[in-house]
Amino acid sequence: MFGTIWMFSDQIDDEDILFAQRSFITYNMAIDYYKMSYRAVTRVADRSGAFYKLHKKVLINRAIFEDYLRKNGKDGWKKNMCKVIAIANQKGGVAKTTTAVNLGIGLAKEGNKVCLVDCDAQGSMTIALGYKEPDRIEVTLATLLSEIMEEEEVSISDAIIHQDEGVDLIPANIDLAALEINLVNAMSREVMLRMLIESIRSEYDYIIIDCAPSLGMMTINALACADSVLIPVQASYLPVKGLEQLMKTIQRVQKRLNKKLVIEGILLTMVDSRLNYAKDISQLVIDTYSNKVPVFETKIPLSVRAAEITVEGTSIYQYDPKGKATAAYRTLTEEVISRG
Ligand SMILES: Nc1ncnc2c1ncn2[C@@H]1O[C@H](COP(=O)(O)OP(=O)(O)OP(=O)(O)O)[C@@H](O)[C@H]1O
Ligand SMILES: [Mg+2]
Repeated sequence: MFGTIWMFSDQIDDEDILFAQRSFITYNMAIDYYKMSYRAVTRVADRSGAFYKLHKKVLINRAIFEDYLRKNGKDGWKKNMCKVIAIANQKGGVAKTTTAVNLGIGLAKEGNKVCLVDCDAQGSMTIALGYKEPDRIEVTLATLLSEIMEEEEVSISDAIIHQDEGVDLIPANIDLAALEINLVNAMSREVMLRMLIESIRSEYDYIIIDCAPSLGMMTINALACADSVLIPVQASYLPVKGLEQLMKTIQRVQKRLNKKLVIEGILLTMVDSRLNYAKDISQLVIDTYSNKVPVFETKIPLSVRAAEITVEGTSIYQYDPKGKATAAYRTLTEEVISRG
């Protein structure tokens, strides 16, 4: 009999015993044992009130933490953990795609599971991630959305590409243009993308959607399923009029389709600090909007290296690790993470 007990206890290692004995655990223990990301642990602990400060150390109250996981269901809490950010501005060439790619990869580098969704029939994000001929990709966002429209089985796993730099990608190509036209006559046309995103939410910490330069049906779909919208604004052109139109569309979506949508922030891009008018425009955006919507403290500087990455098919972190735009995208990533 004693032999049996010995055999049993032999199979438990020291770490298990340590964990079982603890009422308070560290971040690393929580990440290991619950198989959650750093961000997910933070959010669950924050929402459940499980944080416990001991001298200068932050610990987590296990009972409260586990109670929250139980009450929110196994997948329920995971869905809550995921943040869906749409990158939108109907003005073309303001660095939406550059921002989507480098924020997405930045978040993945910080240990988050990230899915990038290309919502532009030009397939710019797909190209920027190294897939130079998007029109040759067979299963894309258009395929998935048309399957949802036709109420067929959705081939999500065939569409998701696991990219080298640690992010997943749902690619797009010209087929999305045809789908957008068909969408206009479909039932629930504004929430097709939401149905898709809801089905993958529990798999990711962040889903970043790169919108096309339009306020068409696909952009409305992106806003209808996002938790927040990040608006890149190019600092070398007078952006105020275009922004008004975008704000109105966001308000309409908030009213009719997606009450929880918030504005993550306006991001000033391609800022040439040597030029006075760029400074003036940055200040104008801050003066006009900062009392209504957040303006990111981080500004993305104009950089030839940043312009080159579109052709290279890599992130800025790989292409120009020490560059100023790279540093700015790193700070932007931190700012986004710090907002929870
Ligand atoms: N910080 C930067 N400095 C200089 N050039 C940049 C910077 N960021 C992006 N660019 C360049 O500006 C152009 C537009 O960028 P990008 O494609 O990201 O914008 P976009 O808003 O997605 O465009 P579209 O509206 O066509 O989708 C690209 O050629 C890109 O390489
Ligand atoms: Mg783009």
